[in-house]
Amino acid sequence: MKYFTTVNDVHSVKDLVEDALHFKKDPSCLSNFGKNKTLGLIFLNPSLRTRLSTQKAGMNLGMNVMVMNLDKEGWALEFEDGAIMNGNKAEHIKDAAAVIGQYCDIVGIRCFPGLLSRQEDYSEKVLISFMKHCTVPVVSLESATLHPLQSLADLMTIQETWNKPFKPKVVLSWAPHVKALPQAVANSFSEWMVKSSVDFTITHPEGYELNEEYTRGANITTNQHEALEGADYVYVKNWSSYTDYGQINCRDEAWMLTKEKLLGTNQAKIMHCLPVRRNIEISDQLLDGPDSLTLLQASNRVYAAQAVLKKLIDYRIPEGGNVRATIGKEKNFR
Ligand code: CP
Repeated sequence: MKYFTTVNDVHSVKDLVEDALHFKKDPSCLSNFGKNKTLGLIFLNPSLRTRLSTQKAGMNLGMNVMVMNLDKEGWALEFEDGAIMNGNKAEHIKDAAAVIGQYCDIVGIRCFPGLLSRQEDYSEKVLISFMKHCTVPVVSLESATLHPLQSLADLMTIQETWNKPFKPKVVLSWAPHVKALPQAVANSFSEWMVKSSVDFTITHPEGYELNEEYTRGANITTNQHEALEGADYVYVKNWSSYTDYGQINCRDEAWMLTKEKLLGTNQAKIMHCLPVRRNIEISDQLLDGPDSLTLLQASNRVYAAQAVLKKLIDYRIPEGGNVRATIGKEKNFR
């Protein structure tokens, strides 16, 4: 695997989740696998979990890790091909990404959408420019449209907490928020769920339909009460409108997830990628209660990233090699 930017980059989702669960049992099992390899984590936006968990994942594999907040610590970047650079943008992405590729064996990049132009955001201009010009394997640390490291950790969390012989009902439930947020986590969760062995429903207010490219195969309803009936997992997330792009068209507090809303569920587990706006998106009572999986999700980010980095280090090796097959052979790697 050379890129990890969407579920479509993954050869076998099932194997990748198995690898992540294996790393969770034994985080040091391939502690020399990335020796003398450098992971560069480039942030154009804030992060707590993604930054620390991916850094830790790289260290667990023996990698050297460098982190740069490029938006604050680097030069202002120009993305237009052929631009006459006589304004305040000091460095072209062609040069910046190519240079980063000289220092790193794998590059992670976080690049949020501007939420002003749907066409521009959904073209993934920033992510694709990095992929094109840095030339080394790239892992998305959340792009304009998707957050695959989060979704892998989410799927891993569902798998490790589900022990019944039938598919769980998983509901993605829109929640209110004070700010306009990207659709990336919701798009991504949906594209991973529709490829997994779950019964998947999305519920949101009118006008919050996501891009069909990511939701094809999901049940979709604007009736939250109906959606929550029989749910085993409720994943709560705000996103701004995709159709009226980047706008907040609903502030209805009734969409917040509360204990009362869960009466018709199968004592559903509560999920959220964090950071969460407490008592806006989800009540304190649920977040601090025994059915909240939010800390487990955050913890699993390390092992999800570790499984992905392992695949990216591996990318010259024929696909099919998994963590279990590699343990004990790491000295023969290369
Ligand atoms: N869930 C998540 O990606 O968190 P951060 O934005 O803090 O990295």
